[in-house]
Amino acid sequence: MAELNLILLGPPGSGKGTQAERIREDEDLAYIATGDMLRQAVADGTPLGLQAKGFMDAGELVPDDVIIGMIGDRLSSADARDGFLLDGFPRTIAQAEALDAALREHGRDITTVLLFDVADEEIVRRISGRRVSASGRVYHVDFDPPKVEGVDDVDGTPLVQRDDDRPETVLRRLSVYHEQTAPLVGYYEERGLLQSIDATVSPSQVAEHVRSTLATLKRESDF
Ligand code: AP5
Repeated sequence: MAELNLILLGPPGSGKGTQAERIREDEDLAYIATGDMLRQAVADGTPLGLQAKGFMDAGELVPDDVIIGMIGDRLSSADARDGFLLDGFPRTIAQAEALDAALREHGRDITTVLLFDVADEEIVRRISGRRVSASGRVYHVDFDPPKVEGVDDVDGTPLVQRDDDRPETVLRRLSVYHEQTAPLVGYYEERGLLQSIDATVSPSQVAEHVRSTLATLKRESDF
């Protein structure tokens, strides 16, 4: 049986993390989110975290060699051998080529790339209202609020705003997306891997679209 190897692609705040939570309820996949890995490294004060923090706070990408080194080990770890869900990686053509090479070496392939399509104005509204739990669960004060204001539904810990969600940093992250990450749309389109998802509708409607896209893929292949 083939593996299900998914990539979530889209601008900051397009709902990749929100939908990753829902996909993981349905599919048993190793979840690999480079932003979460980097924030953990920053919180732990590791050399990787110290190196990454300045780039992240400025809304810039962490250099490719750092990210490619970090992801390589994770992709070959035991839990990722039967399928993975990549969130926030790759983000440059160099990262995509490195991923292709790493997978090819082990006879593996990407199953599909889900592109979350949302306009920039909506992104700013979403990110300004985003709140996250210590364990990474994502909420929005208006669009996806917790049951009790300011508190995580699952473990009751306080919700906080991410350091890089300040308005000026968000605008920089958006332009970095257009300059460095958007070229991946063409890269994966040429390879016949891209599935575009209208991410402007509610989180549940987006989840439904993702579910039906994956169901169609499953009917067409054997994972
Ligand atoms: P990362 O953590 O990956 O951030 P990002 O890609 O900018 O994406 P976000 O986490 O901001 O958004 P999301 O798409 O997950 O949206 P979410 O579901 O939270 O990266 C952070 C930084 O790390 C980068 O800037 C960079 O410095 C570095 N980095 C990471 N990976 C790297 C790499 N590969 N190379 C180099 N550097 C790297 O949703 C956003 C909000 O909207 C939430 O409040 C949510 O509740 C709400 N929402 C979600 N869906 C909907 C909907 N359908 N309708 C209304 N509201 C919604």
